[in-house]
Amino acid sequence: MDSIHVTGGQPLFGSIPIAGAKNACLTLMPATLLTDEPLTLTNTPRLSDIRTMTSLLQSLGVSVSSQDDGQTQVLHSAAITNHKADYEIVRKMRASILVLGPMLARDGHAVVSLPGGCAIGARPVDLHLQGLEALGAELDLRDGYIHAKAPGGLKGGTFEFPVVSVGATENILMAATLAKGTTVLKNAAREPEIVDLADCLRAMGAQIDGAGTSTITIEGVERLHGASHPVVIDRIELGTYMLAPAFTGGEVELLGGRLDLVEAFAAKLDEAGVSVETTPNGLKVCRKNGRVSAVNITTAPHPGFPTDLQAQMMALLCTADGVSVLEERIFENRFMHAPELMRMGAQIEVHGGSATVTGVDRLRGAPVMATDLRASVSLILAALAAKGKTTVSRVYHLDRGYERVEEKLSACGALIERVKSDG
Ligand code: EPZ
Repeated sequence: MDSIHVTGGQPLFGSIPIAGAKNACLTLMPATLLTDEPLTLTNTPRLSDIRTMTSLLQSLGVSVSSQDDGQTQVLHSAAITNHKADYEIVRKMRASILVLGPMLARDGHAVVSLPGGCAIGARPVDLHLQGLEALGAELDLRDGYIHAKAPGGLKGGTFEFPVVSVGATENILMAATLAKGTTVLKNAAREPEIVDLADCLRAMGAQIDGAGTSTITIEGVERLHGASHPVVIDRIELGTYMLAPAFTGGEVELLGGRLDLVEAFAAKLDEAGVSVETTPNGLKVCRKNGRVSAVNITTAPHPGFPTDLQAQMMALLCTADGVSVLEERIFENRFMHAPELMRMGAQIEVHGGSATVTGVDRLRGAPVMATDLRASVSLILAALAAKGKTTVSRVYHLDRGYERVEEKLSACGALIERVKSDG
């Protein structure tokens, strides 16, 4: 397994290009199942999760051709030749559940493995199932698989999400585009990835209003046609790299960065003493003075502070001036980066969904282990400013969501390298 080695202390200067959003691409790709015409996605990120979704779709009979050095994908589901999403693929990536709604809408039947939990939580899929039942689906859970049927096709319906769910909103939104009649989704997720999905579905001929708000209305249509759609930039990669100069000092421009995608996050950075400025090419970030100030964070569905940036922010606050409290309200076990940061000298107390961070002057480099995608990048950020050398192991977690992190950071002056191992 590869590891990443960092020697801290270098201020960063330069620019970092921001890729297309992993979490938008993982819902845009299954949308191809809704039509028998080709769907072209541009600005696709080069990540292992995207390769996993590609394999899953290919197992269902979708042809996927990658062009432009992996930044364009042409997907074509002329016919779904296999309606079973196998456990072996689904267990590797929870987003696989997003083939359920489109397959059901297209052909009236689907068998999809239950994804199981992951490191950050149990992550049930009950809301996906309840939403599809509201559209008339008949679901039978047995042998670890969801057996779904919609004889005569899905019918429009009204469904209110008891809790905001990004994936369930995406699954039901896709299914509703081909349901007979009107569907109204209430307490829907408002993430930019939902807006991007709706933009793509409309380009394919869907009739959707309200994406990005809590109420989405869909008028079902007979069929959807092919389209070409650019994947929205990755606001979580953007937020992650905005933090880099906040750790190290210096100034970094995030190419393609859009402030409207990270407003709550940027407001917290401003409060902590980090300047974010819009430029013609994106966003420019630097620390306002020598040390950031402590701030309190509570994660929430968009437009609140993103849970996917909580680990990275905690790492920054480990050397802030003062005491910060972070409340993780989305997932039940998303502080696994804390023990690893403590190995680097951080002072963190975790009580359930709340973590108290007392800032220290500087962290010390140490051997640490990645546990999940966002935790792994928080360790790399911490290592950029820590005294001495840090080695981060199990970086396969990192490769799920960040392309070429060592190249992007070393281009700005970081002393960072990937050490390949054949293990
Ligand atoms: C998406 O996961 C993202 N993944 C996650 O990013 C992100 O953290 C999450 O949304 C929240 O923003 C992708 O888009 C591929 P949810 P998702 O359904 O859809 C509970 C990353 O690092 N819930 O909004 O699975 C759930 O347990 C990943 O890129 C149910 O109870 O998240 C959680 O507590 C990590 N029943 C809350 O809702 C359900 O049926 C929010 O989950 C579904 C969810």
